[in-house]
Amino acid sequence: MDDVYILGIESSCDETAAAVVRSGEEPISNVVYSQFATHQPYGGVVPELASREHLRAIVPVVRKALEDAGKSYQTIDAIAVTKGPGLAGSLLVGLSYAKALSYALEKPLIGVNHLEGHIHAVLLEERQKGNRELEFPVLALVVSGGHTHLFLAERQQDGWVYHDVGHTRDDAAGEAFDKVAKLLELGYPGGPVIDFLAPRGNPEAVKFPFAQIKHRDRNPQNRHADDDRRVDFSYSGIKTAVLRYVETHDMREKIEQRRRALAGLETRAPADYLAACDRQTLDLAASFQRAVVDDLVSKTLVAAREHNVATLLVTGGVAANSELRKTFETRAAEEGVPVYFPSRKLSTDNAAMIAAAAYPRFLAREFADPEFSADAALRLR
Ligand code: KG4
Ligand code: ZN
Repeated sequence: MDDVYILGIESSCDETAAAVVRSGEEPISNVVYSQFATHQPYGGVVPELASREHLRAIVPVVRKALEDAGKSYQTIDAIAVTKGPGLAGSLLVGLSYAKALSYALEKPLIGVNHLEGHIHAVLLEERQKGNRELEFPVLALVVSGGHTHLFLAERQQDGWVYHDVGHTRDDAAGEAFDKVAKLLELGYPGGPVIDFLAPRGNPEAVKFPFAQIKHRDRNPQNRHADDDRRVDFSYSGIKTAVLRYVETHDMREKIEQRRRALAGLETRAPADYLAACDRQTLDLAASFQRAVVDDLVSKTLVAAREHNVATLLVTGGVAANSELRKTFETRAAEEGVPVYFPSRKLSTDNAAMIAAAAYPRFLAREFADPEFSADAALRLR
């Protein structure tokens, strides 16, 4: 079969991204415009600002993705766009632009679930390495700023079907990284900075016990027939525990000193944060990361045993975390289950994963109708 070139567009949160992927396996361009600088002063994504930035960036980002790929609007075969979940206003920017392109160019449009996109970030790179056949059942941990989800995946005809076998009851793991970083004046997004600082601290310094979740999910939509086999997460408690630690250990003054020291810098590299950190902060960051990593890995492995899975995938922004990768590699090897990650570049939001996820749908001719719209709370099934 001839090569298929899909233009992917992603705008669900604070990255405006476009990419061209050949036949679901080779990204020939991958452009990501991050809005970090816009949201940095607020320590988190401000939805109105995100939509405005997407509007500014979408046309040049798509144009650059085509240019980098040596493609024109006319020589792509289809357009894939994230339809949800995400911020409604942000999703609509990418979706409206993709619809307009599809209409004007008379090219098919494919709507992609962002979470399935993260899963395809792994599949795309594995295909590139020649690994085309993963053993089923597959368990995917999608762990990012907006999601902490365990999906059991099975193959069905042309595509995969997903069962939600666990998710966070409150904050996502990446959100906890971002909130703890905000509290400690370590910038936004918090994950990469904490990742850099943690190896310089003592992860045993502060104990953060994680409660096992026994109560049933209060949201009836989230109830499942096999609730007993679920493994759920919760990350709002650890954020409060870090806050309590800061208060009971009189860290406020040090945090304020760091804020002042960093305020004068035009750009801030992880090394600048390190220079502004005392031992207690490094120990706290290391202990926080250790606790979150242990919880993510342990619960994923419990679910893997429970569902007798043959393959593990770990993806989403937090999958870029070095300690998470190392711990998964060691502990999954002990269990005898192979674990796959995307490269760091494809762990965080990008459009190559969206174009890759659209490829099987392109082959199955599952095109979006012109009426389709964004769904901020879209589920993966
Ligand atoms: O997948 P992503 O780009 O966006 C969402 O779909 O949410 O994930 C962004 C999240 C942020 O919370 C960020 O702090 C976290 O991923 N993150 C990390 C690392 N790199 C990004 N968390 C821990 N360690 C990292 N190296
Ligand atoms: Zn994401």
